[in-house]
Amino acid sequence: MENSLTVVDNRTGKQYNFPIMYGTYPNYGAAIRSADLRQIKASEDDFGLLGYDPAFLNTASCKSKVTFIDGERGILRYRGYSIEDLATKGNYLEVAYLLLHGELPTHDQLADWTKNIMHHVLIHENMKKFMDGFLYDAHPMGILVGTVAALSTLYPEARNISDPMVRRMQFYRLIAKMPTIAAFAYRHSIGMPYSYPDCDLGYTGNFFNMMFKRTELKYQPDPVLEKALDILFILHADHEQNCSASAMRNVGSSLPDPYVSIAAAAAALYGPLHGGANEQVLRMLREIGSKDKIPDYIKRVKSGELKLMGFGHRVYKNYDPRAKILKEMADQVFEVTGKNELLNIALELERIALEDDYFIKRRLYPNVDFYSGIIYQAMNFPVDMFPVLFAIPRTVGWLAQWEEMLNDPEQKIARPRQVYTGYDCRSYVPMEERNSKV
Ligand code: ACO
Repeated sequence: MENSLTVVDNRTGKQYNFPIMYGTYPNYGAAIRSADLRQIKASEDDFGLLGYDPAFLNTASCKSKVTFIDGERGILRYRGYSIEDLATKGNYLEVAYLLLHGELPTHDQLADWTKNIMHHVLIHENMKKFMDGFLYDAHPMGILVGTVAALSTLYPEARNISDPMVRRMQFYRLIAKMPTIAAFAYRHSIGMPYSYPDCDLGYTGNFFNMMFKRTELKYQPDPVLEKALDILFILHADHEQNCSASAMRNVGSSLPDPYVSIAAAAAALYGPLHGGANEQVLRMLREIGSKDKIPDYIKRVKSGELKLMGFGHRVYKNYDPRAKILKEMADQVFEVTGKNELLNIALELERIALEDDYFIKRRLYPNVDFYSGIIYQAMNFPVDMFPVLFAIPRTVGWLAQWEEMLNDPEQKIARPRQVYTGYDCRSYVPMEERNSKV
């Protein structure tokens, strides 16, 4: 009876015992199997009790070893390593390796991993032509979603997802090509020729090259900005079962190739409540315009007219640890780029919000999107590119979640149930008998 839940169905008086399962932490992530509830029936022909959980507020959809978040205490760990340690001591490709393999790479493993990824940074020339077909003002996130889905047509062998070697090849390709597609989408939108990858530069240095190279023979990224972008990529690499990772797992559960699943995950990320939020933060800060307008804006938020973008989180009920790292990093970036007035508005907005009862009561703190947009803008990235900058590093998180799902014998095609609230069976009404007012 220990480690079990006893439930009495008051409709029948019957009692049921369900085992309780635990993850690594007994006080965090204890669960019963929802399928056990099906034993609870009010009558013989009863289907059995369902758990009703719109938006999965309290449903564990999987067991996972990838990322741990303790939202109450503001803790984020990849494979057991704290985000603070990884951001200050690691680099993005090393963290990508960790997320996918479960362990930090040795020197040789990292060299091999980096070589393989940098080997795949080019995209097929037909993909370039495909991207040319988008209108000049197409949102780069729309281009990214469309183009990554189109990669599926180039690599038909990728459908063989049960072969670990085939999967590994798609990891290289996807991690390598996302920055290229992202940068080409930007160059397309401003009518600049595409800047081809330069593999002498690192992963993030090359991304700057593909984004910003003009007529110089060799582009040299600023080392401070390159390091800052690398840290931003580490912070965005995974975040357990969020909306886009769940999209990746859901779509992936019907077993298509990873390109179309990544496109679905990126589409989920695009929305303003998820990865699109940093774009909205910048628009909000611009709309506020100056510090003296903040109290009025907060009033509108509290009246329910607006949301304070970059605040609040489904899981964090404390300061988002990623936002803390970014807030500290902002000064180093601004030393190179010059101060951004929007940062002063953001700092004041945060100060006022954190002292306000509305935000205290609801435990609303800055999330990662609150500061990332200001930093991206200082680095010269246009606002439209912000969700794209999120999708590049998150690709590895999506892939880690996808592979874990494929290797989990308990996972099947995702297919939720519903509580039907519509009509009971009705007879077809002939056209001439229908009431036109309805
Ligand atoms: N501004 C003002 N009020 C807010 C905010 C906000 N940003 N976020 C939540 N609230 C309020 C809600 O109105 C609600 O108030 P009520 O109890 O009076 O109705 C209460 O706080 C609880 O909020 P929920 O909407 O239930 O929280 P939920 O977990 O569903 O939403 C979300 C989380 C979507 C992130 C929400 O906080 C939000 O919309 N934030 C702004 C968008 C944003 O920054 N998204 C990025 C998230 S991080 C990421 O995806 C990388």
